[in-house]
Amino acid sequence: MTLGPTTTATQAYGEASYWDNRYAQDDGPFDWYQKYPSLAPLLRLYTSLLHRVLVVGCGNSAFSEGMVDDGYGDVVNIDISSVVIEAMQKKYSNRPQLKYSQMDVCDMSAFQTGSFDTVIDKGTLDSLLCGNNSRINAAKMLEEVGRVLKDKGVYILITYGAPIYRLHLLRESWPWTIKLHVIDKLLPGESSGQQKWELTSPIPLDDDGNSLEAAIGKNPDVHFIYVCIKDDS
Ligand SMILES: C[S@@+](CC[C@H](N)C(=O)[O-])C[C@H]1O[C@@H](n2cnc3c(N)ncnc32)[C@H](O)[C@@H]1O
Repeated sequence: MTLGPTTTATQAYGEASYWDNRYAQDDGPFDWYQKYPSLAPLLRLYTSLLHRVLVVGCGNSAFSEGMVDDGYGDVVNIDISSVVIEAMQKKYSNRPQLKYSQMDVCDMSAFQTGSFDTVIDKGTLDSLLCGNNSRINAAKMLEEVGRVLKDKGVYILITYGAPIYRLHLLRESWPWTIKLHVIDKLLPGESSGQQKWELTSPIPLDDDGNSLEAAIGKNPDVHFIYVCIKDDS
């Protein structure tokens, strides 16, 4: 499923009511873009099983369940939709490693500054960027993500957005050290084939995107993963 300029009525992705309606009709699980097993090697590179992890805009994805099955012990999940949060609280009532709370990612004042080692975002910044006041909301979200992370904490953003559409937003928000990884998009039913680029090797990153094109070609059919390490300077 795509999220972005080619999708109809993309503005709705910025509205809580859209997500409530959607989750009332679909109890999932459904994972946008990529499932946990394909991204697990990258997570293991930047995170530890002992990390306190926050998944923002979790939806009814099985990603966090996959993390806990792999040994992560503390995975906190938030979403703007109370419908999906109630469903996930019920589903995982017997898994204390998984916590679910209804919360707006632009206002996470319920969390203290520096409370997480890792924040994972798969499709949530993308959703905000589809809605009204997108730039303001994206800036608020990134400010909050940086705030709740510890120094040297890691924000992992999985998105369809190429560097020319995402890097300036990230760089404006915090003095991160940013690494870029890519993973092939998979069509439904397709199994992983020959990757254009090794997932765990960062792509050289310059300002204009030329290094990306040189590495994997023009208009690659990939999802982008920005690993943003919070600078403590
Ligand atoms: C594209 S879906 C991605 C869901 C899930 N992360 C995945 O990968 O399958 C975007 C999610 O962000 C949530 N969302 C949208 N705006 C939000 C906000 N302001 N605060 C928290 N969650 C939000 C939606 O309810 C939805 O579950």
